[in-house]
Amino acid sequence: MSTGNTRTQKLLDILQENLQELDAHLERALASEVPIVKMMSAHLNLMKGKRIRPTLLLLICRAHEACGTSAIKAAVAIELLHTATLVHDDVIDDSDLRRGLETLNAVWGENSSVLMGDFIFARALNTLLDVGNPRLTPIFAVSLDRMSQGELLQVDVRHNRHITEEHYFQIIRGKTSSLFGATTEIAGVLCGADDTTAERYRNLGESIGTAFQLTDDMLDYGGASDVTGKPTEGHDLREGKITLPIIYSQRVAEGAERERLTMLIEDPDVDGCWPEILDFVHRYGGLEYAKEAARRFIDEARQNLELLPASEGRDAIEEIMEFILSREH
Ligand code: IPE
Ligand code: IPE
Ligand code: MG
Ligand code: MG
Repeated sequence: MSTGNTRTQKLLDILQENLQELDAHLERALASEVPIVKMMSAHLNLMKGKRIRPTLLLLICRAHEACGTSAIKAAVAIELLHTATLVHDDVIDDSDLRRGLETLNAVWGENSSVLMGDFIFARALNTLLDVGNPRLTPIFAVSLDRMSQGELLQVDVRHNRHITEEHYFQIIRGKTSSLFGATTEIAGVLCGADDTTAERYRNLGESIGTAFQLTDDMLDYGGASDVTGKPTEGHDLREGKITLPIIYSQRVAEGAERERLTMLIEDPDVDGCWPEILDFVHRYGGLEYAKEAARRFIDEARQNLELLPASEGRDAIEEIMEFILSREH
């Protein structure tokens, strides 16, 4: 994971060997003799993400000096699960750019991409089963269950002017926090946590994940595609995704401006009105509001950091939390 910060980079260097192993394992995990699967897997192997979830898992294990083969396999399973959801997400969001490259749906179409997503899910589960720890399977299943429902909920309220902050948090907890929660819970279990402690590990990841999605949604208003590697500048709104910056702006706006914002939510001409939309969101403080919320979730996460012994691994997780608040990709 690159954070653009030299201190963080130094801390993450402690994982370099593990991350190389992770990359090699990820490639092997998607191997197939079926030509189209081979081609799509090769394309996916070129698309390297930030690896934030496996990095978190490995750092927790590192802090407990438990970073062996099981941790690597579990990290691979989590990254595969994440990748599968991104493949499906890009179909749902009609996105043509991911990690700086064309999405699978842009190259091979929607049908093949949905099936490839299923294939990656299957490989994720196989990799997890290979760890041989029966406590991990239900964690994985719960996360997938919540993620699917979160994405479904989001699709169901597209362009809906009545969406509230509560709906928004319900969606992002489902689609994003759940996987971060599974990541840290699995790490906790691998480090010998009992059920009560494992729940605290999950809470740690859930808070980090919620902050992560909040800043992702901010990037759609302020980020640059060539840095994020995916569509920005109103792609969410174009797809009917009403996120916190605009929910808040609509809530505090009054009179004609509120009417206009509501209209832009229901039937957005994003290409024609982007400067106007950005102006609303900036003037009403929608981005600051979302950032403040992200900061609260990171503060909440910090309270669970005491689960980890003071170590380079724990320091690196703290740095990642800071990165989430100021990230540009
Ligand atoms: C993208 O996740 C999906 C969200 C939850 C916002 P990442 O930003 O971790 O994606 P990659 O793996 O780095 O591409
Ligand atoms: C997160 O939502 C996607 C998943 C959790 C599957 P987004 O739709 O905001 O993610 P990006 O922006 O496409 O990466
Ligand atoms: Mg998307
Ligand atoms: Mg997004």
